[in-house]
Amino acid sequence: MNPRSDVSHPDTALPVTLDRESGVPLAVQLADALRESASTGHLRGGDRLPSTRALADRLGVSRTVTSAAYEQLHAEGWIAGRHGSGTYVTTSPPGDRPAHGTVSGADLEPAERLDLTPGTPWAEGLDRAAWRRAWRAAADTPPQTRAHRAGLPAYRAAIGEHLLRHRGLAVGTDSVLATGGTTAAVVELASAVFAPGDVVAVEEPGYQRAVQAFSCAGIRVVGAGVDDQGMRPDAVPRGARAVYCSPAHQYPMGSRMSASRRVELIERARAEDMLIIEDDYDGELRFDVAPLPLLAALAPDVVVHLGTTSKILTPTLGAGWMVAPPSVTSAVLDYRERTGTRPSPAGQRVLVELARHGDLGRHLRKLRRELSERRSLLVSALRDGHVRVTGDDAGAHLVVRFRSAEVEADRLARAAALGIRLDGLARHFAGTPSAFGVAIGYAGCSREALHGSLEALVELLRQQPVG
Ligand SMILES: Cc1ncc(COP(=O)(O)O)c(C=O)c1O
Repeated sequence: MNPRSDVSHPDTALPVTLDRESGVPLAVQLADALRESASTGHLRGGDRLPSTRALADRLGVSRTVTSAAYEQLHAEGWIAGRHGSGTYVTTSPPGDRPAHGTVSGADLEPAERLDLTPGTPWAEGLDRAAWRRAWRAAADTPPQTRAHRAGLPAYRAAIGEHLLRHRGLAVGTDSVLATGGTTAAVVELASAVFAPGDVVAVEEPGYQRAVQAFSCAGIRVVGAGVDDQGMRPDAVPRGARAVYCSPAHQYPMGSRMSASRRVELIERARAEDMLIIEDDYDGELRFDVAPLPLLAALAPDVVVHLGTTSKILTPTLGAGWMVAPPSVTSAVLDYRERTGTRPSPAGQRVLVELARHGDLGRHLRKLRRELSERRSLLVSALRDGHVRVTGDDAGAHLVVRFRSAEVEADRLARAAALGIRLDGLARHFAGTPSAFGVAIGYAGCSREALHGSLEALVELLRQQPVG
């Protein structure tokens, strides 16, 4: 074996800290630390480890401790080649190998054949020639020395055009801020606009990363319930400084916020000096239903509109946008200035190139067609199999409800045993779950795989509840 690098050299830090007070045997602590390093990539296949004697000297422990730890990792398959030429991290750690014997929950992951969790875009549908052309053109621009805190001017203009064409929102280029994506924008808003102790309402169930982003900034998050007309404005508590919602296709339940609720929410926001954060999740995707106006189009004075390329192109671009009242925009820019942060321009450049040549518009049309067909395929199969489907008017996932947490857990486990990964609703609650079922995303897999899974899926979802 060719060692990739030599971490046995004393200058190469091995991330091991032993706690003599903890009561956990030192050999166990050492094995845990090395296993963790190998599984997180700090140590990689081929890395040479120090001899048991050298490591014992460095850590100030007896050689019995290092030998016992190495024995354990050797038995588990993390390290190899103990005699003669030294000890190496194996190139195929235990998790990469096919499971033998009893299949545990953790072993199911390698066996997974089909991922039907929501949120993965149809990356396979991207025109690779257009994609390459855009990256090449983006690479042709000379490196710049100045950071654009608000985003590249050409990107802001391209997003302005996109919002007008595809979301019916007319905004000046100056009102568009580039972001690193929706979640990154929420992180910024949490620190730039709100103060610790402020109350922000988030849909319940809802996007838990938004909940976390607010909570991490010391904001008190309260849940606002949702039903088949989207978030309920009357569930937003008085005194909230803001409310975060996904009106185009509620995540995860899939409902669209009705027109009357939109108006009601805006009236409350204006009356109570509250901001509405409109996560336009799945906004570009709608099937057989009339468009509804964006909250940002109805009330630009109180709405912070967030969009992303993550669902229509790929999350790897790390490019999104924010359109907000001037006070919010300047607070975010001021925050970026103070913290020395800005959204990365690389993904912005690629999007500019895709938009310039019409590839973005072409991709969106193709995406809508493809997802519309997939949705029909899935919905007809489920309905023909007497499975009740909701949340399928928009977006790239739909929902099948169950009556209890037990049924949800049972269906998820049975799906996993078939190699199908589904997303349970219960995990999308910040508090006690009150709705159960699965969200089925149909964009991330191949059409053939989706087609091939229909029979099993219908069978699985229509089974009578357990218990
Ligand atoms: C509701 C919702 N908003 C936003 C995002 C992600 O957006 P971004 O990748 O731009 O952070 C997700 C991803 O799953 C989501 O579920």
